[in-house]
Parts: sequence; C-alpha cells; structure tokens
Amino acid sequence: MDLTGKKIVLGLTGGVACYKAAELCRALSKAGASVQVVMTDAASHFITAVTMQALSGQPVFSSQWDPRVDNNMAHIDITRQADAILIAPCSADFLRKLAHGACDDLLSTLCLAKPRMLPLLVAPAMNVEMWQNPATQRNVAQLREDGVVFFGPAAGAQACGEVGLGRMLEAQQLLEELIAAFQPKVLAGKRILITAGPTFEAIDPVRGITNLSSGKMGYAVARAAREAGAEVLLISGPTALAAPHGVQRINVQSAQQMHDAVMAAVDGQHVFIAVAAVADWRVANASEQKMKKKDDGSVPDLKFEQNPDILATVAARTSLAGYPYCVGFAAESENLLAFGAAKREKKGIPLLVGNIGHHTFGQDDNTIILFDENGHTILPRADKLSLARQLVCEISKRLDKYSLFQ
Ligand code: CTP
Repeated sequence: MDLTGKKIVLGLTGGVACYKAAELCRALSKAGASVQVVMTDAASHFITAVTMQALSGQPVFSSQWDPRVDNNMAHIDITRQADAILIAPCSADFLRKLAHGACDDLLSTLCLAKPRMLPLLVAPAMNVEMWQNPATQRNVAQLREDGVVFFGPAAGAQACGEVGLGRMLEAQQLLEELIAAFQPKVLAGKRILITAGPTFEAIDPVRGITNLSSGKMGYAVARAAREAGAEVLLISGPTALAAPHGVQRINVQSAQQMHDAVMAAVDGQHVFIAVAAVADWRVANASEQKMKKKDDGSVPDLKFEQNPDILATVAARTSLAGYPYCVGFAAESENLLAFGAAKREKKGIPLLVGNIGHHTFGQDDNTIILFDENGHTILPRADKLSLARQLVCEISKRLDKYSLFQ
C-alpha cells in the first residue's frame, strides 16, 4: 500500500469541508497510514471528535492542555514520529495563524513546534472572496515561501452558494497529492507528453473498430510522471478512466486526431511517451450515414488505409530538434525479446517498453521489458502504478545522460 508505515497528523480547522475530512481519514488508513487527528474548536462545530476517532482508530487531540500525554507536551510529542502534517480543511483564519507563527491552540502550536524538515501540507477551504482577498493571498505567498505545500484549492460551486476558487479538493485527490508528496521529484521542471488508451476508427456514425487497451498503463505513467514533479499532458483515446489529479488531458478518438493533438503539443516537451495502442489502419470509405443491413446478405466492402505513425513522426522530429526524448511501448503477441529490440531500432528511439498485449490489456498488473542501446532489462510482474514509477525513474536517469549531449 502506498502509505504503509507512514504516520500522518491530520489537522482539521473550521469549515463545511470537514465532512470530506472523514472520508479522507478513512482513505489514508486504507492506504496503510496511521492517522493522528488534531482538531481546532472551530472544526468541532462541523464534525465531532467521536467520528474522527472511530475512523482513525486513535484518540483525537484538540486541547493543548490535554493530560493524556505523559509529559503534557502534546504540541511536541504528536509531531516527533510523524512523516507529514496535513491540514484539511485549512481555513482562511488558520492560514493567517500559520503565516504569522501564532500558537494559541494545539494545532497552531504543534505546527510552529514541528521539526523543520517535517512537511506541512495544507488543503485550503473557504469562500471564493475570502480566498481571493489580498490579505489571504499575502498569507499564501508567505507560506509558500516558508516551504508550506498547498493542495488546491479547486474551483466550483461552494456551500455558501457562490462559485469560484476555494473548494477543498476531494478526499481521493488529497490522497493522491499526499502519496505524490512522498515520491522523489526526479522529473521536477520537466514537461512530459503522453498518449494512452486505444483509438477508435469509425466505420459509420455509430460503429467503429477499436482494440482492447484500457488505458490503465498510460494513465499510471501519467500519474507517476506527475508525482515525480513533471508537468504532464495526456492525450487519450476513449477510456473509462478519470484523469489523474493534476494531469491535463485532451480526449481524442481516432489515430489521426491523436496524431494532430500530439503534433500541436509537442513543441517544448522534454519527453514523449507513446503508450497508446494506436490503430495501424483506418477505414478509408467510412460512411457518413449509418450503413443499412442488406436483404440479399451482402456485407460492406470496407477499404483500409494506413494511419500516421505518431511515435515515428515525433522521433524523426527529435533527430532534428534534440527533444523530446522518445519512449515507445510495444504490444506484441509473441517473440517479445526479438520483436522489441527490432521495433526500437525501426522507430529510431532510445527507449522502448515491451509487453505482451493480450497479457496486459485491461489488467491491473503487468510485466515489462525495457529495451535500450545496451540490451534489455526485465521489470518483474507488479501493479501498473509501481511499474510506471520504476519506468519514470529509468527515464529520468537516461534523460540526465541524454541532456549532457544535447
Ligand atoms: N504508435 C504510434 N502510432 C501508430 C502506431 C504505433 O505512435 N500509428 C506507437 C505506439 O503508441 C507504441 C509504438 O508505436 O508506442 C509501437 O506500437 P505497436 O502497435 O506495438 O507497433 P506498430 O508500430 O504498430 O507495429 P506492429 O503493429 O507491426 O507491431
């Protein structure tokens, strides 16, 4: 589990978004973390300590005079074994307190007394005007300078009926952000373009040809790259998946649309990772109207033409411009070692990831083989996110060397 062994201090301050903190607490525990909840007085107007204790499985702290701590120093003891403090929801008033070093309740005092290297992460939740007020923005700027990490806020409908920035992120998004905070930032400052999923080649307005790719591997690579600090643009064929938090997604259907979207976005990208299972052919004589079944039993005379090879096109551009560093995926059905090595050469790319298509499409785990100029390396069977994180790490090492020669 992603947070196994991690000790998280979950701070709640006053805001309607406290209802999301209950779900967050549960999600953190399910991800393997042990959660110590600390609430302000204002938070207890929105949710009870009983609920948070039941969900975290640990007594909740809210007073700096709490006699349950042996040495009576809750503000010190609570953070000393912790791996992160996450304040969710974090009110405008609590941002003010953090920015000014206030210590007039247990939560603000333990934040001021935390070890310097302990990450302080905040998920703001407030009315749009409160968020945009210059006073709040001054506090936010100060806190960012002090190394406090902000998760959100998001924009949208607010409990007060107004609309705009200030909504707290959803529990699942906060979980993803927290997990990301523990990943090494090996791609910090890098822009990464990724294709994922199948393509859909129309036969007529209601029918088409596609393949069994679910998009899971491409989406896992997008999430892992973002966790590693990259700015990620995901160009996706039709899938049932939600875009990973913080990843920008462009939806396409056909290989030609995917090609056009990639070519429009490729400028300025450091890395291109082609994970999509792109259709090699499209229907050349697709019908504009729905084709009708014939009474005489005759079947449509479909003609095919070849789609552009997106990866090969970008790789040819790289040979002139130096960037992006190109990574391909090979879905084979047999003879992976020979076909993978040959495909890397043919596509003219430095790194190719091979897998057996029908063993991975739609699955949650996979085995992959990395092919580069030195041969091949097997990454043994694991869930796709773990493999994606290993791949991101391998790409970052190669990118460092590659950059030296550009
Ligand atoms: N690819 C692409 N555009 C295409 C076809 C493939 O960008 N029109 C990319 C895929 O995203 C993948 C790599 O090329 O990264 C290899 O795809 P694959 O389907 O395994 O190989 P093909 O090049 O299509 O060759 P073949 O089908 O003959 O194995």
